[in-house]
Amino acid sequence: GDYRKEIEAAELNSPQQLEEYRIKFLGTKGIVKAIMGEMRNVPNERKKEFGQVLNDFKLFAEGRYESAKEALAPAATAAAPEQDLSLPGDALGLGSRHPISLVRRRIIEIFQRLGFSVADGPEIEDDWHNFTALNLPENHPARDMQDTFYINQNPDWLLRTHTSNVQIREMEKGKLPIRVICPGRVYRNETISARAHCFFHQVEGLYIDEHVSFADLKQTLYFFVKEMFGPGIKVRFRPSYFPFTEPSAEMDVTCTICNGSGCGLCKQTGWVEIMGCGMVHPKVLENAGIDPNKYTGFAFGMGVERITQIRYNVNDLRLYSQNDVRFLKQFTGAV
Ligand code: PHE
Repeated sequence: GDYRKEIEAAELNSPQQLEEYRIKFLGTKGIVKAIMGEMRNVPNERKKEFGQVLNDFKLFAEGRYESAKEALAPAATAAAPEQDLSLPGDALGLGSRHPISLVRRRIIEIFQRLGFSVADGPEIEDDWHNFTALNLPENHPARDMQDTFYINQNPDWLLRTHTSNVQIREMEKGKLPIRVICPGRVYRNETISARAHCFFHQVEGLYIDEHVSFADLKQTLYFFVKEMFGPGIKVRFRPSYFPFTEPSAEMDVTCTICNGSGCGLCKQTGWVEIMGCGMVHPKVLENAGIDPNKYTGFAFGMGVERITQIRYNVNDLRLYSQNDVRFLKQFTGAV
């Protein structure tokens, strides 16, 4: 009874008074807890009756607290210092796009203008789509060209070593003609240095239709590099080997850093290698369910880091993934 009177009379007009009240009545060492503790001394047959009374008291004490708190809340807001809404806001720091994103977007844009669309596929791939369907059967020596990360749980799974897996997946859909580019991240088990990394980005392309020729391949890629590096760029194709293309070639462009007069990027040759390409091997078409007597096609693949290196003269691959703001902010405003 006395406590009830005290609770009713308590002055709860400030946050401090409220907090003192809370500690005194509702805290872990407060009066409500203490009285509740007395329950254990009440004989069993009277427990129900006492419980009721004590519970009422508890609710009463809590109720007073809650309503006083509510009454105080708007007062607290009103007491906050007045804001000058005419003051200018804090300036937002402007970020920049990652150079790899910038260049990837540019590559995609150029091929989209030629009618290529973007295709996507998994980074964790099975052996078939990354190797076997691409005419790299088990024990083929060319598999060693790409040091592969395998997934422990399943020997059939690996991290794709190139985005050619997406080409196979597109062909398997069986809808022709095909004109796609496949941008994506790829993985190779290489020691990290200025010139190699365990992951990098590729854009590969695939065009399959009736009567597609090597001349189509050359003109498409020539158009691409002129758009990418400017109309003055020159190209050359060197014969090469890939199991999934025949014939195969590597494409070089004139060095944009020294304009052909010789520098570190082109190793004094005046030429920089930028991509592999070739006519899709008939065996690959067949593996993906396409009739090689009716259809031909070309494919190509480039590293986005490499294109970025040429475009922005970045000489260390590690810079791309170190997230050093001094490097990244140099691309603010770049398009
Ligand atoms: N898949 C090759 C690589 O990753 C690139 C390539 C694609 C070459 C298509 C020829 C044709 O190295």
